[in-house]
Amino acid sequence: MSTTVLRNSVSPVNTIIVLGPPGSGKGTQCQRLAEALGLPHISTGDLLRDHVSRGTMLGLQVREVMNRGELISDEAVLEMLRGRISQADCGHGFILDGFPRTRNQAEMLDQCFVDAGASVRQWVFRLMVSEEALFRRLAGRRTCPRCGRIFGPLSVSTSKCDVDGTDLIIRPDDREDTVQTRLAVFAQTVSPIVDYYANSNSVVEVNADRPIEEVTNSILRELHRRENVNHEVQSSVNAPGSPRSTLRRHKPRGQANG
Ligand code: AP5
Repeated sequence: MSTTVLRNSVSPVNTIIVLGPPGSGKGTQCQRLAEALGLPHISTGDLLRDHVSRGTMLGLQVREVMNRGELISDEAVLEMLRGRISQADCGHGFILDGFPRTRNQAEMLDQCFVDAGASVRQWVFRLMVSEEALFRRLAGRRTCPRCGRIFGPLSVSTSKCDVDGTDLIIRPDDREDTVQTRLAVFAQTVSPIVDYYANSNSVVEVNADRPIEEVTNSILRELHRRENVNHEVQSSVNAPGSPRSTLRRHKPRGQANG
């Protein structure tokens, strides 16, 4: 599978990784970050669900595993992800939702960049939410099977997607027993991933038990703060020229504390 688009990228590939348990708001936040930053949102869960709904070979293989709340093999997910990040819109970077799920996946992703000879800037955010809130959120979630838009408990009276009018659905893996399995899988797998990234980046913990907009704003503020720090370091090394920003500027809305 080719990653030519990464190899051809002249500027560093900006990779934003959002970690968090089921229901912590990864999909919600990644959609908002994608709009704010102009980077594609790549959800491995959405890509897999698309395969299931199209009845592809991969979809037939993974359907039952997903319905049980277990993880798909690292190789199958990486193969699918490589196909997605090879597309033209990923040349400047992308926002990863639901990947990596294992330390091995994190290592395999980094190896993709090495193989492509691409330089990368990575930011890793971990959404922190109480378990009680996770169950409440997942019990109230509805999604649009066509565009993937996510609707929360407060909009449950809506039965159709406000973007394309499609009937909203309850995800098959949002049954309470499956949610228990998904939470247990997350608890078992998250520490090795955090340890892996802690070697090269700091993993920023975000209190995601706050209103959606506050969470987005605190992530955006942190991104721009770190980007400025990076620029100051690079500018002092590369003086007199200073590198240009490759992340689109976004003014956080509201005055929420981050
Ligand atoms: P995936 O689709 O990634 O599911 P998940 O990680 O379990 O996460 P969710 O999508 O359930 O939750 P979320 O954190 O995105 O929360 P959301 O924004 O929707 O994976 C599904 C399956 O695919 C896995 O179990 C596995 O089988 C397979 N898979 C995927 N990736 C894989 C990989 N890399 N390797 C192996 N297998 C893989 O929000 C939830 C609800 O809360 C919504 O209703 C939302 O409106 C609401 N909400 C969000 N934020 C807030 C807030 N701040 N306040 C109040 N409500 C909020």
